[in-house]
Amino acid sequence: MKHMPGRHFLQIPGPTNTPLPVLAAIAKPTIDHRGPEFGDLGRDVLRRIRDVFKTQNPVIIYPCSGTGAWEAALVNTLSPGDRVLMFETGWFSTLWGKMTVSLGLQPEIMNGDWRSGVDADAIERVLRADTSHSFKAVAVVHNETSTGVTSNIAAVRKAIDNANHPALLLVDTISSLGSIDYRHDEWGVDVTVGGSQKGLMLPPGLAFNAISEKALDASKSARLPRSFLGWSEMLTANATGYFPYTPSTNLLQGLRVALDLIEEEGLENVFARHDRAAAATRRAVEHWGFEIQCRNESEYSSSLTAVRLPEGHSADALRAEILHRTNTSLGNGLGRLADRVFRIGHLGDFSAASVLGTLAAVETGLKAAGIPYRTGGVDAAIDILNGNLPPTATIGEAAE
Ligand SMILES: Cc1ncc(COP(=O)(O)O)c(C=O)c1O
Repeated sequence: MKHMPGRHFLQIPGPTNTPLPVLAAIAKPTIDHRGPEFGDLGRDVLRRIRDVFKTQNPVIIYPCSGTGAWEAALVNTLSPGDRVLMFETGWFSTLWGKMTVSLGLQPEIMNGDWRSGVDADAIERVLRADTSHSFKAVAVVHNETSTGVTSNIAAVRKAIDNANHPALLLVDTISSLGSIDYRHDEWGVDVTVGGSQKGLMLPPGLAFNAISEKALDASKSARLPRSFLGWSEMLTANATGYFPYTPSTNLLQGLRVALDLIEEEGLENVFARHDRAAAATRRAVEHWGFEIQCRNESEYSSSLTAVRLPEGHSADALRAEILHRTNTSLGNGLGRLADRVFRIGHLGDFSAASVLGTLAAVETGLKAAGIPYRTGGVDAAIDILNGNLPPTATIGEAAE
């Protein structure tokens, strides 16, 4: 493809932009993964990654994409035929459900509308009725990347506790880790699944399992076959900073610097920056006159916004127009939302200017595609980014 002048705006909801210091660390020569320098690196990243998950327990780092960490969460804790309670929040929860079937598990998938998060009360009802404790795990997606909906994981934990049910809680944080507040220990999550290519600002290629004591115990009697993804050998090697097989040395070099950047900014400030960008984006979308895919304000995602176009307009044609005219990539609609929505990513490494540039790119595309919209969305977003408007002000209230 022909080179387009200027920096490409990668504003899909992951993979995200990798900051230069992280790229520089990845570009350093590969080191001996069995030598002393690697031991320092391994111990350092394995210790500090825990802070991002808000856990005191071990976090396993795999050289794979997030899907591998989904599989690891299941094969390490469950046995053939085990029932898993899942909630359909969108495309990614659906894929995780399909994986359980391929692995010989029995998912019970609670239907959702792809516009709301996990219904914790409904989960509680199902678990209360499961007096034989046939469900061995509840598996949910924290931030559904296909819809821009964030579920309340503390409420899911409470639902399991209220039902007095022993099921493990498995949570996918692939598009929320390092972008949206998440508390592995406090929320009593047993396995948290993460990936490198979103909030952590790394390229794709690392994936994570944060694990509780209870999950570790379960792994000792779980009978699904596992080899490469097995926790036990990993934990043994990780205890001294090493890996049982060749790790992604250069990505780990990048991870160390990404953790430096997050620590320097402060995790809570990182979340606040994402919240602001999300609020500014929603303000622009509402000003343009479009609907946000997420129905409930309390579930708005801070890492992406999925925008519904009015009937009769193609979201894919709009994205193509935006790419062609502004060198900006936005996320496509997935599954049943194909061509119906486009997704604006505001996660990872970005500034106020990145947010505004992205919104201006959308306006450019809307105008070119002849889609009716109200001008001034970027201006409305500036007010949020400048702190002149409360991020939660409702449509039209102050944007005029
Ligand atoms: C919420 C969520 N879960 C799982 C995945 C799958 O991860 P990967 O593509 O890294 O294998 C993604 C990818 O975007 C995702 O957003």
